[in-house]
Amino acid sequence: MVKAIRVHELGGPEVLKWEDVEVGEPKEGEVRVKNKAIGLNFVDVYFRKGVYKAATVPYTPGVEACGVVTAVGPGLTGRQVGDLVAYAGQPMGSYAEEQILPANRIVPVPPSIDPTVAASLLLKGMTAQFLLRSCFKVEPGHTVLVHAAAGGVGSLLCQWANALGATVIGTVSTKEKAAQAKEDGCHHAIIYKEEDFVARVKEITSDNGVEVVYDSVGKDTFEGSLACLKTRGYMVSFGQSSGAPDPVPLSTIAVKSLFLTRPRLFNYAVTRDELLGMAGEVIGNVQSGVLRVRVNHTYALSQAAQAHEDLENRKTSGSSSRDFAKLAIKTRKTGCTRSSGAKVRDDHPHWSAGTRCMFVVRALATESASPAAAKMVKAIRVHELGGPEVLKWEDVEVGEPKEGEVRVKNKAIGLNFIDVYFRKGVYKAATVPYTPGVEACGVVTAVGPGLTGRQVGDLVAYAGQPMGSYAEEQILPANRVVPVPPSIDPTVAASLLLKGMTAQFLLRSCFKVEPGHTVLVHAAAGGVGSLLCQWANSLGATVIGTVSTKEKAAQAKEDGCHHVIIYKEEDFVARVKEITSDNGVEVVYDSVGKDTFEGSLACLKTRGYMVSFGQSSGAPDPVPLSAIAVKSLFLTRPSLFHYAVTRDELLEMAGEVFGNVQSGALRVRVNHTYPLSQAARAHEDLENRKTSGSVVLIP
Ligand SMILES: NC(=O)c1ccc[n+]([C@@H]2O[C@H](COP(=O)([O-])OP(=O)(O)OC[C@H]3O[C@@H](n4cnc5c(N)ncnc54)[C@H](OP(=O)(O)O)[C@@H]3O)[C@@H](O)[C@H]2O)c1
Repeated sequence: MVKAIRVHELGGPEVLKWEDVEVGEPKEGEVRVKNKAIGLNFVDVYFRKGVYKAATVPYTPGVEACGVVTAVGPGLTGRQVGDLVAYAGQPMGSYAEEQILPANRIVPVPPSIDPTVAASLLLKGMTAQFLLRSCFKVEPGHTVLVHAAAGGVGSLLCQWANALGATVIGTVSTKEKAAQAKEDGCHHAIIYKEEDFVARVKEITSDNGVEVVYDSVGKDTFEGSLACLKTRGYMVSFGQSSGAPDPVPLSTIAVKSLFLTRPRLFNYAVTRDELLGMAGEVIGNVQSGVLRVRVNHTYALSQAAQAHEDLENRKTSGSSSRDFAKLAIKTRKTGCTRSSGAKVRDDHPHWSAGTRCMFVVRALATESASPAAAKMVKAIRVHELGGPEVLKWEDVEVGEPKEGEVRVKNKAIGLNFIDVYFRKGVYKAATVPYTPGVEACGVVTAVGPGLTGRQVGDLVAYAGQPMGSYAEEQILPANRVVPVPPSIDPTVAASLLLKGMTAQFLLRSCFKVEPGHTVLVHAAAGGVGSLLCQWANSLGATVIGTVSTKEKAAQAKEDGCHHVIIYKEEDFVARVKEITSDNGVEVVYDSVGKDTFEGSLACLKTRGYMVSFGQSSGAPDPVPLSAIAVKSLFLTRPSLFHYAVTRDELLEMAGEVFGNVQSGALRVRVNHTYPLSQAARAHEDLENRKTSGSVVLIP
């Protein structure tokens, strides 16, 4: 019999009872450990209150301890009576003088580390490890925001992030905690009870925002944390000490193409190798001297209720255990991974060389000399939002390009699902009436005053902003057009640039597909879908696609889908589980939205990426964090506009797309062409799922 804390009913600190329990003998694969020190963690409070569910009630709380092995199970090798070991995570039950543990969940503790330090370090240290090194990889030059910076995990996060070369901003509730956070390497400590932390972060970062927020506070800070992030930033919501945040509408992360994750240590330290790797990095770093573990409070185990009360009343800082120890971390710095691929250069000597090309340029230049062509042109106009019938064929004035602009006579215009969203009002056009369209390929017919690098006669394409491509001729900012290699047909270019660059950022930046990955692509026979499947296949992934008909299934197969699911006839979640032997996929590219969202989450493996990049069936409901917490998933609602921001990004992405078409890795399916005047019919067919591949409008 040993003494332990037991919980017979959920509730306040008073439910923690000091009782006798039987500990028994270790079975095969187990050890018995006499605890020397036990770590107190906020997760113990969640279990006690019932925010998280314990497997049984009554139960013994606690998920972290350090102690000495007192018995080993039959046949066990590698562990001996007398070994100093620590454990963190499952199984629960560390609030006990002695406990049984699976041998594969404990790690050896070097003699140089005090057991009290080890007990307060392992869970918090491994949490800091996966947050900074896996969940989001902090690198020199990043700016990170850490809430509750003087807390147990917070203190380690700040020191470690600082050691990784980041600028660290911490939030705390009191002056005393601010002083501690500063000592722990916070470059800026914000007292969030007195100051508006969002305004302060904006001020500190000169309105740029931070790369990542580590938010363990939850409800009180969640919204503000999102506001502190820069475009494509990571919101790592790893705790909820102030309560669970409300379900998240996708629109709140779409505005800046943010990533949202609600990670758990249990999903990062799954295998023995992961556990040893993480613990090794934490302990090794502590030994080498950069990290300092603050054991600011120790209580007798029998007084666990008092410790819980203090933790909940924010009276504690650092770790709850004994003595103050000086420790250190030395971190491995890894280089950043960047997309590779052909770069499009503005000058393109290899494209413009050759007699044939020169001749074309001259011929087009002559054609553009007609002043009448530049005045009135035909275009599709939308005067009121609604069905395809609101697309009207009208005369519009096109005018002359100003400084930094070019005028382009379109040869082909790409149709995209986003044109439907704008027409219906799902997305708001800047003005009404407006000319729709965000993709085209054409010939430069005039250049603005003083512009260099672009000439009349250049074949160019553009994708994205500004809207207005459903026109015979249009004005465009010169820095948004890219040169089109002569080997690429204008119709292909017009149907390729937006969809291809979308596929590019989805597969190469948003989530980096690698050989051996399994990816799920919805609407696999669509414009973007067709390119995604081919490209993912060429990257070495196993591709699973969903489509609505047999004909589309045949096309998806040709496009490199290893498995095609007709989701109107089959349960795609069950089929994905079957295909992946219940393992799930690394990433889902979901442009369908409402109809597929929940099923897509179910198809993902632990730590998988849910890339929700469209909503052809409607917007998904707001997402409760619990939906992504179970498997520590990542959720993002990205937009091409946030990935092709600078001229360099645009040229690099377009270059990779054109390069893949030229090499044959991508085949563009222009399955449908309509006269531009018939745009309404094209919209109707796209919305009624009658199209596959790309749809192009010809002026
Ligand atoms: N985030 C970005 O930056 C970005 C950029 C480009 C495109 N996108 C998105 O990517 C998606 C694909 O664009 P796309 O132009 O290539 O269109 P598309 O995939 O060619 O057409 C949409 C397809 O979605 C499927 N679908 C499923 N449910 C539907 C419904 N209720 N109504 C209509 N279609 C439905 C249909 O395929 P099945 O018949 O096989 O079901 C349909 O053919 C769109 O959602 C678009 O918004 C996003």
